[in-house]
Amino acid sequence: MTVLVVAINNAFVRRRSAPYVVSMDEAPIHHHYDTAYDEDQRLRQGLGRLELARVQEIVRRHVPPAVRVLDVGGATGVHAEWLLDDGHTVHLVDLLPSHVSRADARLGGHERFTATVGDARALPVPDASVDAVLLLGPLYHLTDRADRLAAWREALRVVVPGGVVIAMAINRFTSLFDGLAQSALFDPAFRAIVAQDLATGVHENPTGDPRWFTTAYFHRPEELPAEATEAGLVVRETVGVEGMAHWIKPLASALDDDDDRREVVLDAARVIEAEPTLLGLSSHLITVATRPSGAPTAP
Ligand SMILES: C[S@@+](CC[C@H](N)C(=O)[O-])C[C@H]1O[C@@H](n2cnc3c(N)ncnc32)[C@H](O)[C@@H]1O
Repeated sequence: MTVLVVAINNAFVRRRSAPYVVSMDEAPIHHHYDTAYDEDQRLRQGLGRLELARVQEIVRRHVPPAVRVLDVGGATGVHAEWLLDDGHTVHLVDLLPSHVSRADARLGGHERFTATVGDARALPVPDASVDAVLLLGPLYHLTDRADRLAAWREALRVVVPGGVVIAMAINRFTSLFDGLAQSALFDPAFRAIVAQDLATGVHENPTGDPRWFTTAYFHRPEELPAEATEAGLVVRETVGVEGMAHWIKPLASALDDDDDRREVVLDAARVIEAEPTLLGLSSHLITVATRPSGAPTAP
């Protein structure tokens, strides 16, 4: 099967023209999203809405109005949808054809939206062709540091000098906290998974239980900006996304739009977002970095 190109904008070219083959290390990721888990609903319900709201405010803080945004790992288009509403032109790239198809089914009619199957490590996008890159997902699944650096370097290559790269990671301590919040930690099989997560950052789920995620990498807070710097970007800030609230499941009701407590919960995340001693508390971390003006294009 060749790379599927959905509603591709002429401004974007396919760089990866070889036949698209799922490598062995990608197989669990395809299985997780294609059969076991509906990514499309994750941010639309429960405490997923806390992540969505915080990502929105962090992205809006750094991305200027009505620019070209590349949404790498954009999945089914949950972020693309509001980015379009904000006036941006959005090109979505995702590893999974099923995700790109769903994004295209929902947003393909929009004149400022295009989508392509592609890999964050070899983006099918020309040099210096976008104003902002979102890397909200691919770094979760790249267990080798060299692959993560390749994704950062690709973001650097495709963004204009002075442009912004916003990358999200899953925190090293997430499975420990989630195991407590959801009671999975009482299961010895889950404790064994957590022990490896804490020791190495490499999360593997031999049980196949979709609640326990798939092959992934969980960053220590200091690792994410260090990767950005090593790739040649200049770090603006690293923040925790959700704070404590993500681990307190009954707070989900406060995220309903008409609940006055919504702002209290969001503010509890905001006030500690850059507190160094608490960066490991949030489920997700975001590093915002820029391509230095005059930086050479990566080879
Ligand atoms: C947890 S989802 C995140 C989706 C969305 N960006 C968000 O923040 O909610 C991770 C997404 O990254 C995609 N992905 C994983 N590895 C990738 C890679 N190497 N290149 C591009 N996309 C990748 C997956 O297919 C999936 O759609």
